[in-house]
Amino acid sequence: MTPALGTRFLPITPVASVGAHTRASRDPMTCLLRCGSACDHPEPNRSEHAHVQDEIAKVVGRRGVLRSALLGGTVLAAGGALAGEAAAAPARAQSRDLTRSWFRPVRPNKRHAVVTATGFTSSVVVRWGDKVVAGAPTFDAYRQTVEAAKTQFGYNCDYVGLVPLAGRTDEALLVVNHEYTNENLMFPTGVYTADEVKRLAMYNHGMSVVRVRQGRTPGSWKQVKVLSRCPENRRLHLDTRFRLTGPAVGDPRLRTKADPRGTTVRGTLNNCAGGMTPWGTVLSGEENFNQYFDAGAGVPAEYAAEYARYGITGAGKGWGTVEPRFDLSQEPHEPHRFGWVVEVDPSNASSVPRKHTMLGRFKHEGANIIIAKNGRAVAYMGDDERGDYLYKFVSREKMDPSGTRAARRHNLGLLTAGTLYVARLSGDGSADGQHDGTGRWIPLCDENTSYVPGMSVADVLLFTRLASDKVGPTKMDRPEDVEPNPVNKKIYAALTNNSNRGTEAMPVDEANPLATSMVRSALGEPLTAASGNRNGYVLELTEDGDRHTGRAFSWDLMLVCGDPAAAETWFGGFDKSKVSPISCPDNLSFDSRGNLWISTDGNVLGSNDGIFRVPTSGPERGRVVQFLTVPAGAEACGPLVTDGDRSLFFAVQHPGEITGATFEEQASTWPHTDDFPRPSVCVAYRDR
Ligand code: FEO
Ligand code: CA
Ligand code: CA
Repeated sequence: MTPALGTRFLPITPVASVGAHTRASRDPMTCLLRCGSACDHPEPNRSEHAHVQDEIAKVVGRRGVLRSALLGGTVLAAGGALAGEAAAAPARAQSRDLTRSWFRPVRPNKRHAVVTATGFTSSVVVRWGDKVVAGAPTFDAYRQTVEAAKTQFGYNCDYVGLVPLAGRTDEALLVVNHEYTNENLMFPTGVYTADEVKRLAMYNHGMSVVRVRQGRTPGSWKQVKVLSRCPENRRLHLDTRFRLTGPAVGDPRLRTKADPRGTTVRGTLNNCAGGMTPWGTVLSGEENFNQYFDAGAGVPAEYAAEYARYGITGAGKGWGTVEPRFDLSQEPHEPHRFGWVVEVDPSNASSVPRKHTMLGRFKHEGANIIIAKNGRAVAYMGDDERGDYLYKFVSREKMDPSGTRAARRHNLGLLTAGTLYVARLSGDGSADGQHDGTGRWIPLCDENTSYVPGMSVADVLLFTRLASDKVGPTKMDRPEDVEPNPVNKKIYAALTNNSNRGTEAMPVDEANPLATSMVRSALGEPLTAASGNRNGYVLELTEDGDRHTGRAFSWDLMLVCGDPAAAETWFGGFDKSKVSPISCPDNLSFDSRGNLWISTDGNVLGSNDGIFRVPTSGPERGRVVQFLTVPAGAEACGPLVTDGDRSLFFAVQHPGEITGATFEEQASTWPHTDDFPRPSVCVAYRDR
């Protein structure tokens, strides 16, 4: 039944369901499906607590940001081309070590391929629909079933972790999130009923654990296909049982008809980024969970304020008609059971994954851990929404590094008790030529005590956004990955963009300085000014005295992203003529030398998204070099440098997601194994 293979790139015309859309940097179809076109609506944070009260004039005076951004259009267009040429560094000594290799930066492009730096290649490790669990059927787009989806690799891979297998160095466990679905591209027209499409979409969410092994070429990896010898392989999906942990367990607002005690949740949703823990588990963030709940017979007034702050409008995906728990009028508490950080033990396929209430409930991008000098586990987290906040959690107990069974049991409890903080950033008010300042971590609650007036511990954890609003944290420009650098111990946060920055509701401050930024409508077009922060920042946070458990920190914007020809950009002080343009940083990770690797989502400079390497210290600090680009329509996720720094794992999420594309009229067929696109996890390595 499957049509013959072929690569068809058809002219795409807009479809009615994806409306005119001007404020976001992603394709409108991605916006609609990913986050319910959040940028077209007012941001849910309407709180009026104080921002960082730096005057705009100071910011402008210091960096010339606004004036140069507004005036620079024509000149910058030529500058952009020059900067692209200058970014091409000569190839030097060949090394398989991604931390040391010199490579010629990949130029911005719109290709339907993964383009790696010369001398490197990439291969697909696992695709949407590939078998994960023994007994899984071979994927057939025309014969998809819920039972098959529960055993196959889910759609739209995002986070990528690689967890060691005890006693082996040649094999490991790949742990991947499946964030959301694109029904337009996944299902042929006329083959499935509307209800079947909903169910299939539901079960293509979740996570996968997949055993992988090293390939022949050093740095390459492939899936172990003999599934009978992959006992850890697992699909976590909407039927998987998750145990709630922490102080909010059993709260009446977590109870439902199916779970009258409020202790157990079926499934995980919209899992975006994540992180590996030092005790061998994986954390995964439930992000845009708000968009899965329908109004049904009406949105209950009881939780109007809470729903509003989380963007739960009742404009869901219609799942309520096939599963009543997604109908707010029937199960008003079901949304409270999503929006958590999930912990999975990939080494044990029968382990019950958990949702940690102690880490708060918001649009969790992910969570990344560093062990403080005093032994406590500190998790850094972002709430990915325009105008929302940066968080950290400090465990009450210390990690036991001894590696015994008892130590493992102890460490698995670390995220169930401790203190949750939210960040307030202040400008330093000095004319030092940088965006920098100091900050405080404001405690929200610990497992016994709430520090937020009028809210209990359970209130704070269930409705963390509302709790934070009361203590005056800094409204940030969409905090995505927040990641500790294991080498210099500083914390790095990707602040993707914020089209509303600079409006009356969200004025600029020193940590969020751009009300205008330079963008490009297509490759070769001139840069033009657009309102808001469109290209994003990478914030560097230094905990006071290397004490990750303390309350004081300093910060600076290491990167003000964009085309280096745009006056507002800043690359850690590095020569702007020698860096790659970069737009919309999303996921972060570090190699063993502490170089930052950045993947992007929503490039507004006319190019496909990609992955970049940036040293964080030494004379090369801030030298942004593009290592690869992902295919048209896709965002780059992951990235993970591992295997002795020889391998870069990454996810190609939503290839071909371009407005107007349908299953029959695809905009891309990447990875070109079928005549429809298949989101996939890939690995890049040196090929010669
Ligand atoms: Fe799923 Fe915040 O990106
Ligand atoms: Ca993300
Ligand atoms: Ca990360």
